[in-house]
Amino acid sequence: MKTVLILCGGRSEEHEISLISAKGILDALDRKVYTPLLIGISKKGIWHLEQENSFYIGEFRADKIKLNEKTPTVTLAPFSNEKKQGTLLCEEKGYNFDIVFPILHGRFGEDGTLQGMLDMIGVPYVGSNCGSSWLCMDKVLTKILCLREGIPTAKFTWVESVEGLTKVQSELSQLKYPLFVKPPRQGSSVGVSKVNSPKELKTAVETALKYDNKCLIEEGIKGREIECAVLGRHGQAKVATPGEIIPSKKIGWYSFEAKYLLAEGAETKVPTDLDSQTTEAIKAFALKAFDCLECSGMARVDLFLEETTNQLYLNEINTIPGFTPISMYPKMWQASGLSYSELISELLRLA
Ligand SMILES: Nc1ncnc2c1ncn2[C@@H]1O[C@H](COP(=O)(O)OP(=O)(O)O)[C@@H](O)[C@H]1O
Ligand SMILES: [Mg+2]
Repeated sequence: MKTVLILCGGRSEEHEISLISAKGILDALDRKVYTPLLIGISKKGIWHLEQENSFYIGEFRADKIKLNEKTPTVTLAPFSNEKKQGTLLCEEKGYNFDIVFPILHGRFGEDGTLQGMLDMIGVPYVGSNCGSSWLCMDKVLTKILCLREGIPTAKFTWVESVEGLTKVQSELSQLKYPLFVKPPRQGSSVGVSKVNSPKELKTAVETALKYDNKCLIEEGIKGREIECAVLGRHGQAKVATPGEIIPSKKIGWYSFEAKYLLAEGAETKVPTDLDSQTTEAIKAFALKAFDCLECSGMARVDLFLEETTNQLYLNEINTIPGFTPISMYPKMWQASGLSYSELISELLRLA
């Protein structure tokens, strides 16, 4: 028997989605092999030792669910022992565990900070290491590294302030509208704007800078939005059958509203109706991006298929993608013959 420390909640905007993902994992975990130990991290960053049957309160939906914070707080002991087990300290008791499954999205969970802490302690965990997580969290760094490896991504520049726009004027003049303006280290489309004309640019940059201290400005790609689920060790990973996001015509892109607020904001399609040659090219592209960023375990690689040229462009890599039973990452594996429960066991085995 191995004890799996499941970490959920967290300080990012995706706290609630994380709680729903954690419930999915608890329900599907193979109990013949794994015993769960559950930590809920509050929005303020306080760690709580939770019980499986009472870790959340409120309705089980993204806008109503809340972490139960009436439980004892807990500390992760900063040392490793010869058995390679981590230790949690709670009310003078110690709890050992063998593997960590961090199901935390965004900052302080997906961005390498947690992974660095786990590396220090020396326990294995699901997903990419500290450095790779950090690079994938930062869309500017991801793009720079991919371009170096010949992986196309939309033309771009970035600024650290609105005043900085004048310094990148010549690069900006190379970008065709519409542009997408984003905080490079966010998720859920928070702070992202589609900019149709130069007069809207300044406001969009100001919006993005509310969420990050730099702002990515990139050319909009007109085409289809494709997602790929990659699973495996660095250099030996596999890609599931890809899926497609089709945002509603009214919104036109996969905005925060389309993702979470509007019932018909977007349609998802797994598998896609793309021909086998295009599908294979997409899978190879996703794998190349996964390896280029030194990802391991899992990642969802999101890309665009340009309408007129059929050219592929990398959009972003999510190292801890949404993981509820109906999220795209598990859905793409289900469509490829790997059930949700088998997927969880495989990720733990890889860790
Ligand atoms: N260069 C682009 N061309 C076309 N659409 C884009 C581009 N960049 C972003 N988008 C749209 O905005 C959405 C959110 O942007 P994304 O970079 O994926 O941010 P997040 O990390 O918040 O998901 C994408 O899913 C897509 O619909
Ligand atoms: Mg995205």
